[in-house]
Amino acid sequence: MTYQYKSMITGLAFSVPKKKMTNADFEKIVDTTDEWITERTGMKVRYIGEEGQVTSDICTEAAQKAIAEAGISPLDIDIIILGTITGDVGFPATACFVQDKLGAENAAAFDISAACSGFLYGLTIADAFISTGMYKNILVMGGEMLSRIIDYTDRRTCVLFGDGAGAAIVQPSDGNRGIIKSIIRSDGRLAELLIRPGCGSKYPASQEMIDKKLHFLQMAGQEVFKAAVKSMGDVAVDILEQTQLTSEELALLVPHQANHRIISALAKRIKMPMEKVFINVERYGNTSAATIPIAMTEARDEGKLKRDDYCLLVSFGGGFTVGAVLLKY
Ligand code: ACO
Repeated sequence: MTYQYKSMITGLAFSVPKKKMTNADFEKIVDTTDEWITERTGMKVRYIGEEGQVTSDICTEAAQKAIAEAGISPLDIDIIILGTITGDVGFPATACFVQDKLGAENAAAFDISAACSGFLYGLTIADAFISTGMYKNILVMGGEMLSRIIDYTDRRTCVLFGDGAGAAIVQPSDGNRGIIKSIIRSDGRLAELLIRPGCGSKYPASQEMIDKKLHFLQMAGQEVFKAAVKSMGDVAVDILEQTQLTSEELALLVPHQANHRIISALAKRIKMPMEKVFINVERYGNTSAATIPIAMTEARDEGKLKRDDYCLLVSFGGGFTVGAVLLKY
């Protein structure tokens, strides 16, 4: 099968804060155990932002490395797209703060709110912009400081999330490699299953809103689990069918890193052996929109994602949002 490549990734990097939080640290603050967390989620370590550190700081660090790898200047960037649900402030877009910190004066900048699918939504938008010929140099990021919206007294959620940012430079394809196909989907019927109810127009700032803990992330874990397994499996099957590519031809599956059991179920559904599935959830926890670019960068640095490999990226997140991007790296 020959594919028409419009855009390709030419720079890829990530950044996480320095402060580590292990399962043993959680044993000290909530009623949990290393055994429970490891068995149910696969997680061991996450990184948490220092006081005063903001989402745009770690995004900027990741972006600087990706820009350097692509061999361009911040001034070359046309658009900055950031997937985040934990921006620096309510508004303006955190992408604008990143623009300022990078000195990317010629770029337009905006955020996307697609939760854990933010990076794949961003890649899809970048591919579309490049396909039309409108822009040439696009910075796509997923970056989160989930520690800022987590209730560290709620054992059902606090152990799951970490902070981090990943960045990619997307440019016109050289004709031999790049994004083959993207599928993005949403199902708003499931929006309440994973939500931060407060701090918006429904529950604006008030003492009552804080007392009810509506400013924290809330999740119906088991329902999210089931929906994630189904929707990620469906989108992965669909993208492989539509591109007529088989899982044998794929070199690597890089799924959203929320839980090793969800990842195993996805791999089984598309008959992908686990040795071709990249998992780093034990080292970072769930960093939402940042998991896929962090995992891609590590896979590349470990030699598991090589130039011209066929690679499938699959995500799900609050919304519900779902994404799949198939590319020849
Ligand atoms: N330590 C010890 N016990 C715990 C913990 C914990 N950290 N958390 C929950 N439990 C307890 C529960 O209280 C419950 O006890 P009970 O029966 O006495 O009430 C018991 O463990 C079982 O709880 P479940 O929720 O049924 O556990 P489950 O096996 O479903 O695992 C988990 C929970 C890990 C959250 C799982 O449901 C999951 O991974 N869901 C998907 C979550 C996810 O991927 N979210 C990210 C979405 S991405 C985004 O957009 C941000």
